[in-house]
Amino acid sequence: MKVNIDGEIRHLFAVWYEDDKVKLIDQRKLPEKIEVFEASTSDDIAYAIKDMVVRGAPAIGVTAAFGLAMAKKKGEDMNLVVEKIGKTRPTAFDLFKAIAYMKANNFDMSAASRYSNEISGRSKKIGEYGNSLIGNNSRILTHCNAGALAVVDWGTALAPMRFAKADGKNIFVFVDETRPRLQGAKLTAWELGQEGIEHAIIADNAAGHFMRKKEIDLCIVGADRITANGDFANKIGTYEKAVVAKENGIPFYVAAPGSTFDFSISSGDDIPIEERAEDEVLIVNGKHLGPETSHARNPAFDVTPSRYVAAFITEYGIFKPDELSRLRSIMEKDLFMKTPK
Ligand code: MRU
Repeated sequence: MKVNIDGEIRHLFAVWYEDDKVKLIDQRKLPEKIEVFEASTSDDIAYAIKDMVVRGAPAIGVTAAFGLAMAKKKGEDMNLVVEKIGKTRPTAFDLFKAIAYMKANNFDMSAASRYSNEISGRSKKIGEYGNSLIGNNSRILTHCNAGALAVVDWGTALAPMRFAKADGKNIFVFVDETRPRLQGAKLTAWELGQEGIEHAIIADNAAGHFMRKKEIDLCIVGADRITANGDFANKIGTYEKAVVAKENGIPFYVAAPGSTFDFSISSGDDIPIEERAEDEVLIVNGKHLGPETSHARNPAFDVTPSRYVAAFITEYGIFKPDELSRLRSIMEKDLFMKTPK
């Protein structure tokens, strides 16, 4: 991803390995500052994933892959490491995909590098395919952050927008702020700004208003886990956006690499949904939001049924929900994706 640091345009990855450490852009610090978090042990990796130093399904997978390779290099007990990293976040399938891939490849550092390069290359392909769905003057809604920060580079939902911009298309992006962690306002808006893509941050509850007023032409979101029937989990709030989009005849696209598809689960009802600490909802800028005695519920994801999805944008092309068995056969022939469980 292109980043302007004090007037100099630099190319940054969200995750990389250097000097025997896994390095991560600390997403908790953006957009105020670009700070690098250095993980030297598997405990650091588990903390980084749980505390959302790194977030976004594909980036979590790459972090786990590098973390496992680093732990093996440093002589940690790999059974314990796998268990610890596997317990960090339950919903994003990429985490489990990366662990299975690394197990099958003896936790080698070369496998972790390949995993990272594959994920990055595949998200670029998503950008190329997704660009074909974006016309000139399109107004696009996105939810949460599915940009380069959530992958390694390019992004999933944001990759098609980067390609559209590079093609000279005039686009405008409505960015849901994404309560409670504000990934939209803090991360997506920052990434779009770095690319010079015009956008506006909107309150999460404003999207329906803009859809009904015909100010949004299409929606593109990422995914954390997609099941065999095309249901998918994504950041909390995605479901209601998809329902309102259908009600208004607006196509709703889901961009994700093969590593997010979990064909072992038949429907979204069986996706484990992470529930995070209530303070993420209750504490805003260090202050308690409501009465001190009030509690909160904080599901991090929701499930959107496949009937609301116009198509999935993947590195293999664009697939309607009823075409997922074809995608599955294609993926079964892809040696990288065909990791044993
Ligand atoms: O809790 P997060 O920030 O890790 O959740 C990430 C999302 O839900 C993203 O929006 C996403 O679409 C999946 S990652 C490309």
